[in-house]
Amino acid sequence: MAQQPLQQRVVEPEILDSLAPDDPAAVANRRDIRILNQLMGNFNWFARRLAEQDGFDGILELAAGDGSLGRYLRDHGIVDREEPCLGLDLIPRPGQWPIRWSWQQRDIRRFPFDTAHGTLVANLILHQFEREDLRFIGQRIDHSQVRRILVNEPARRRLSLWMIPLFKLLRMHKVSLYDARVSIRAGFRKGEIHEQLGLDPRSWNIRYTKGPGAVRMEAVRA
Ligand SMILES: C[S@@+](CC[C@H](N)C(=O)[O-])C[C@H]1O[C@@H](n2cnc3c(N)ncnc32)[C@H](O)[C@@H]1O
Repeated sequence: MAQQPLQQRVVEPEILDSLAPDDPAAVANRRDIRILNQLMGNFNWFARRLAEQDGFDGILELAAGDGSLGRYLRDHGIVDREEPCLGLDLIPRPGQWPIRWSWQQRDIRRFPFDTAHGTLVANLILHQFEREDLRFIGQRIDHSQVRRILVNEPARRRLSLWMIPLFKLLRMHKVSLYDARVSIRAGFRKGEIHEQLGLDPRSWNIRYTKGPGAVRMEAVRA
């Protein structure tokens, strides 16, 4: 892959999305994503931010994948099993998704955001979308009942690219190494997520923080 200055996002297809959910490479990749989530402290960040919240009015998780984040939040007592939660992903409902929670196997870009969920969480997914898709998704969120958004995405930093060879030491699958590179090049910098979603800072209180290899946005309706 040619060296890029990383000034602009470059969105390219990730291999995972072309694989059947039970393809051994996809299974290995989901395992590697679990490791990365742990190393980056992503689930812990969602848990800490959600723990400060006084009621969720239901949680909508975009690209819930193998259900690890939802399961983590439930197992750590952050989200009650009775809370109305909905996971969305291209893949079928994972076995570990809590039985009382809902699942829809569908493309986020075609989801109408017409549900009553008040809290939206998205981990490592928005970077996969071009600006036009993000604007479309953002408009729908803006017109939805969502009142709080928590997003964790890869940071578009050269240092993150330099870290990828180290992942080999963790025996990560070659699909994971490829997708990690694509994800970083398509990732965000501080200030870019709400801007690409088209969320108006006059209508949303927006805050950014950094994590290891991550840029994190929290948006609450003003
Ligand atoms: C990098 S994984 C992250 C999964 C999960 N958020 C996690 O952190 O474990 C990206 C997920 O996005 C899903 N995905 C990709 N494109 C999607 C789309 N257009 N609509 C819904 N899900 C999508 C994939 O199936 C995959 O599960």
